[in-house]
Amino acid sequence: MNQIAVLSTDERLVETLRTSGLKAARIDPSELSAYGRAAEAPQVLVVDVRGRDHLPAGLAAFRRQHPGAGAVLVVSSLDPRLMLEGMRAGVNECVTEPVTAKALDDAVRRVLTSTIPEPAGQVFAFVGAKGGVGTSTLAVNTAAALGRVSREHVLLIDLHNGNGDDAVFLGVEPRFSVLDALENIERVDESFFAGIVEKTEAGVHLLASPNQPRPGGIDARRARALLESAAQMYRVTVLDVARSDMTLLDSLDAATTIVVATSQEIASLRNAARMAAMLRSRYGATCVKVVINRFQRDAVIAHDDVERVIGGEVKHLIPSDYPVALAALNAGRPVVLDKESRLARAFVTLAKDLAGIVKERVARPSSVLGRLAWRRV
Ligand SMILES: Nc1ncnc2c1ncn2[C@@H]1O[C@H](COP(=O)(O)OP(=O)(O)O)[C@@H](O)[C@H]1O
Ligand SMILES: [Mg+2]
Repeated sequence: MNQIAVLSTDERLVETLRTSGLKAARIDPSELSAYGRAAEAPQVLVVDVRGRDHLPAGLAAFRRQHPGAGAVLVVSSLDPRLMLEGMRAGVNECVTEPVTAKALDDAVRRVLTSTIPEPAGQVFAFVGAKGGVGTSTLAVNTAAALGRVSREHVLLIDLHNGNGDDAVFLGVEPRFSVLDALENIERVDESFFAGIVEKTEAGVHLLASPNQPRPGGIDARRARALLESAAQMYRVTVLDVARSDMTLLDSLDAATTIVVATSQEIASLRNAARMAAMLRSRYGATCVKVVINRFQRDAVIAHDDVERVIGGEVKHLIPSDYPVALAALNAGRPVVLDKESRLARAFVTLAKDLAGIVKERVARPSSVLGRLAWRRV
């Protein structure tokens, strides 16, 4: 990809930019509408309108389609009508004749520094120490809780190669699955995503697990690419990760935090300790958290036993409330949508803690609300 696309018949503009160390190439007006994905578009478009009295037709559409890209006009003089047209089309800078190398270079660099790509969204991965500990319950409720708090759509990806349960938890029967995304990973952009996610009443966009597993499993490269795209498109993505799929466990580089779910039961606890150690060495200790689900204060294995075995703090204890959990599952409606239960409150606290939100106010700049405030400026 070229950093700078130059819409001009004047080769000297390209040469001037290249001489000052920028990656520039000339394009034709027809190429303006051909940039499909944001990753293919240039960071800056230089439009030469010297000797013309109108901007090229595709400029405004290009700016709308690629809001992260900037535009520089090269004009003969500061003609007010052309300037107004430029402002409406979202032009950032103007360079007038005589076009010196310094003036052009300065204008392009000013735009470049203001078009640094937006930081990626937060990604929270849930992995169970054992089947049935409540990993899907945690993932679904975290997604729904963050959707509520941030008033944004949150993406939930059910990373099970067949037979994932997240669609049931959300009361939907999706037509597409995560396999559609993985198999078309080079085409995955915002409109492709919008077509394959299932939009649920909980405000969660679900990329469901396929009904039939894919023979040969999921490819790590594609899984990584999917998670990166998801983080570019959603401010919050939640993953329900199949614990037995080592390929997936090795593809979580995009994850902000990986949550290992355990219960107060010996087999589950041993697995949680092993898994947390493995994930800490792969992704770094600060990235991994352990949560006890279905917590019971009077259980034989107590909170501090769990912390000792895990070798670190276990902050979140999600209470056991089978009637509430089961009613929500049967109704296809996440627990957090009905706030009054202790279980719902525990899920919301966990979700806010993961996202760095304290009492629905900004805790630190990387929090969900912090990002919203920042992006809306
Ligand atoms: N905190 C909880 N209290 C009581 N029951 C729970 C809790 N969390 C999950 N469950 C129940 O446990 C069962 C398994 O949960 P699920 O999320 O499907 O586990 P996993 O994804 O780890 O296999 C479900 O019936 C669910 O309703
Ligand atoms: Mg599950």
